[in-house]
Amino acid sequence: MSRTSPVLPDGWTLVALQSISSTNDEAARLAEGGAAEGTVVWAREQTGGRGRRGRHWTSPIGNLYSSTILRPACSAARAAELGFVAALAVADMVPAGRNVRVKWPNDVMVDGGKIAGILPESSVDVRGGVDHVVLGIGVNVSSAPQLPDMRYPGATLGGSVEDALQMLTTALAARLGQWRREGFETVRAAWLAKAGPLGLEMDVKLGDDLVHGRFAGMDRDGALLLETTAGPRKIVAGELLGQAA
Ligand code: BTN
Repeated sequence: MSRTSPVLPDGWTLVALQSISSTNDEAARLAEGGAAEGTVVWAREQTGGRGRRGRHWTSPIGNLYSSTILRPACSAARAAELGFVAALAVADMVPAGRNVRVKWPNDVMVDGGKIAGILPESSVDVRGGVDHVVLGIGVNVSSAPQLPDMRYPGATLGGSVEDALQMLTTALAARLGQWRREGFETVRAAWLAKAGPLGLEMDVKLGDDLVHGRFAGMDRDGALLLETTAGPRKIVAGELLGQAA
C-alpha cells in the first residue's frame, strides 16, 4: 500500500487535515476568504460529515473525504452540472474489470454497491452568478459504512486514501477541462453511457410521493426523464430509490 503524498494537478493546492467536522464547511470557509479554484480540502476523518438531504455521512479513517473549490463563470443553474462531472470523475477512478454505473443524480455504483457520495454546494453572488462551488466527494476506500436509511449496499475501492485522492483529483481536472471545452452535452453523453439501460424500472421519491417508471434518459438541463403509465415525466429534484442492477 502506497503512503506517498498525493500529487495534485498543476496549479491545484492541497489543504490536508487530520480531522474536521466537514470538509465542505471548511472549503466554503476558505472560499469565502478568497481561496483559489483548485483548492482541495482533504481530511482523514470527518466528525460531522454531511450527505444529501441533510443526512449524516459516516466518515471513519480509511475512506476519502475531499472538497474542491471551483470558481466557474456560469449561472447557478449550470453549476448543478458539476455534480455529473464529479460522478464521471469518480467512475474514472474505478479499475477496469469492475461494473461501474452512475445513478441519477450523482451516485456512483460499483458491482451494485454505492462507492461514493457527491455533495456540490454553490454560493451565488449578488448578481445571481456563481461565486464559488464546493464539490464535496466522499469515496469508500477501505470500508463501506451502512447508514440506517441507506437503500443500497456499500462498495469499496481498495488501495490507499493517498492514491485515491491523487486519482480523484487527476480525473476531476480532466473531466472539468472537458466540461469547460466541450460543454454539458459531452458530459451528458458520457454520463448516459455509464447509466443504466433505457427502459430500466425505477422508483423516484418526490416529497411524500413515489413515482414508478422506466428510465428514459437525462435531458439537456440534467433532469431525469421517466416514462410512466401516465406519460413522460421530467424530474428536476427527487431521489431515485429503486433501480435494478
Ligand atoms: C450523499 O449523500 O451521497 C453525498 C455525500 C457526500 C459526502 C462528502 S465527504 C466530503 C464532503 N464533506 C461532507 O461533509 N460531505 C461531502
